[in-house]
Amino acid sequence: MLNWLFETIHADTLRPFGGMRGPTPWYPLGNAGAFLFKTQRPWEVIASFAKYGGMTVFWTFGEPTVALNDPALIEQVMRSRREHFYKDGPAPELIPVLTRSTPNVNNGDEWLASRRATPLSREFASAWLRAQAPSVRALTIEWADRLAAKTRDARVDILPAAQRLLFDCFAVGVVGAKLSPNDYDNFTVLANYGSARMLQMGTLAAELPPDGVEARERWLAMFMRRIAEERARPRPEARDLLAVTVREGTKLSDRDLAAELGNTWFGGDFSGPSTLVSALYLLTHNGASGQRLADAVAGLTEGADIDACEVLDQTLREAMRCLPAVAVWGRRVLPAKPVTLGGSVLPGNTKIYITNWHLQRASSFWAAPESFRPDRWTKDLRADQPYSGGSHFFPMGLGPRVCLGAHYIVFLLKHVLAALAGAYDVECGAGQPYDAGQSFYFATRMPYGLKARVRRRA
Ligand code: HEM
Repeated sequence: MLNWLFETIHADTLRPFGGMRGPTPWYPLGNAGAFLFKTQRPWEVIASFAKYGGMTVFWTFGEPTVALNDPALIEQVMRSRREHFYKDGPAPELIPVLTRSTPNVNNGDEWLASRRATPLSREFASAWLRAQAPSVRALTIEWADRLAAKTRDARVDILPAAQRLLFDCFAVGVVGAKLSPNDYDNFTVLANYGSARMLQMGTLAAELPPDGVEARERWLAMFMRRIAEERARPRPEARDLLAVTVREGTKLSDRDLAAELGNTWFGGDFSGPSTLVSALYLLTHNGASGQRLADAVAGLTEGADIDACEVLDQTLREAMRCLPAVAVWGRRVLPAKPVTLGGSVLPGNTKIYITNWHLQRASSFWAAPESFRPDRWTKDLRADQPYSGGSHFFPMGLGPRVCLGAHYIVFLLKHVLAALAGAYDVECGAGQPYDAGQSFYFATRMPYGLKARVRRRA
């Protein structure tokens, strides 16, 4: 029997997981077939293991991975007992792209130092963020008018267009001006390498191929040039992150500051557009919620009013609940330090996958979980399940390693949605299944292939 063969060949590795439930592994693939040959996406497969329990083991050839779908265990790994675990991916994959400056690729003291030093963690970040409201609004209106002209006769692919909008929003917020087409190309080359490395199985080269190295050096040099200009000729009134950081002072070297400013795009220009397009899709297919949002934001132009708009907040949370852009991520048990989790002893270095896909749509927590119902987000629910992560809503992670850009992206998406819903009809993916072209890019669930049409309301 194949299962017997698997158990015999991997007896030593299997032993510690003997009491843990999970899908039956078959020799030689283990459960890898569920990911390779099935129609479900990886996050759906991991979420589906919840049928065996909140903590399950599955096998990729002879390697065990623990899948967590249990709120208490996820909380322990991410927050209260996090010192027993570390983040391995995406360090080897992304260090040549993001450099070592980002908290994303660090652990322990290096993580803390990089998390504290990066501009988005500094105390001036909230005032900087509030100052971005007018430019985000202006960029969105310019983008929507352009798209309205372009889609008069034919619908266009919305995801690349949304990526371009957020690319420009990040540019104005981070350096005070749009970037050049060459900068966009450098970013794209780097993102393609980063994404391919995250999907690659087996050993990774420590460095990118020459064209990737050149793209990275050109990308960093562009920011370093701007930092040097700012030091030489300060712009006292400028409200972009680069100007504010230079004005306030930073412990980062110019190269690390350049990398951290540039990493905004790698952090946000896939997950942000994915969320925006998902929200537009859900609003298109739930007309009453779309109308409710349009009514709520009509006439709102002031940043503070937009931030305070309850319906807008409910809409964004519900979109992030139904279709989280980042649906799975990983940890490992510290090497050579077994840990007891959920009553089982996990050997050192055991791989763990955490997904929000199951809990954010579990009927034990959500009434009619498959329905897009922004008004389910009462005041109490919002307090209990914040954007920064609750027990069964954590679209941007939770605990001390919660998304570094969480405040920024929530702000941006609210202001983009307010500008769009206040003056435009956006028809996104009408008559199309959401997930026809969906795939992973840069560890993000990207809803490719959805077509959109934009009309300015009279
Ligand atoms: C809707 C958009 C976004 C989503 C859904 C998202 C999701 C996430 C998630 C789930 C994590 C936790 C991963 C883990 O614990 O391993 C994370 C971490 C992170 N995100 Fe985001 N993110 C978004 C936007 C952004 C933006 C705009 C930035 C940059 C400005 C950013 C930068 C980061 C960084 C640097 C980390 C690592 C933090 C650390 O390890 O301390 N993200 N994000």
